[in-house]
Amino acid sequence: MPAPRPLLAANWKMNPLSAEAAAELARGVLAAARDHADRVEVALFPPFPWLLPVAQVLAGSGVGLGAQDCHWEPSGAFTGEVSAAMLSGWCGWVIVGHSERRIHLAEGDDVVARKAAAGLGAGLQVILCVGEREEEFLAGQTEAVIERQLRAGLDGLEPSQGARLVVAYEPVWAIGTGRNADPDHTDRTLEMIRRVLKAVLGRSGAEVRVLYGGSVNAGNVAAYVRLPSCDGCLVGGASLKATEFSRMITAVATSSATVAEGREGGE
Ligand code: PGA
Repeated sequence: MPAPRPLLAANWKMNPLSAEAAAELARGVLAAARDHADRVEVALFPPFPWLLPVAQVLAGSGVGLGAQDCHWEPSGAFTGEVSAAMLSGWCGWVIVGHSERRIHLAEGDDVVARKAAAGLGAGLQVILCVGEREEEFLAGQTEAVIERQLRAGLDGLEPSQGARLVVAYEPVWAIGTGRNADPDHTDRTLEMIRRVLKAVLGRSGAEVRVLYGGSVNAGNVAAYVRLPSCDGCLVGGASLKATEFSRMITAVATSSATVAEGREGGE
């Protein structure tokens, strides 16, 4: 079986400001994504109002499209919310549990778990974000915090849903700060996440992809995707510049080609 392609997921957050700018950004990364489609999987996560214009740009391109959040109920009296059921069928993905929502919107582990279950139940691929705060990192509590968030986030999931689940390790102190986590620390944490996934989901825990996120850019992305524990990256700021994100796609493609050649050479 061919090894899965590394995933580069572009979390645009509350950017850009217009539909035209969103479509232009999507068009700007299409060439690199198409050129390296055999080596890198790319998915874009625009804000809700730009999902439709970006979907039109991406149609038939093989580039994935997803939302940055969803509600856990399929429909009903939830003013301002968008359900996973509304996204399914034309969006392939949803992010849940991003630390900006945990911190600024007080989303707890229970809410995140319900959103993850709703996304998977609606047939979407779900990126479940986990990550420790700086004070927790400094106190040596990374593994305990991640394990708690992860076990809570997986609550209620069916083992058969593992193949559509992606876990993104995003230390809060690394997001948007330019202080990307040390690859050794990242490797240890991603390995720990894999152990928990297997303990909770059994054999299908091995099908869950695990990403790193936090100040990833074209200069450091290869250091992460090269780690055997790492299936790709969730990218914020650097995904808002078409040239930078295109360079990241190329860097991941080059790095995965090197890894594949190394494997073939070793056989
Ligand atoms: P960053 O954000 O790449 O700007 O650090 C990553 C994220 O929040 O997903």
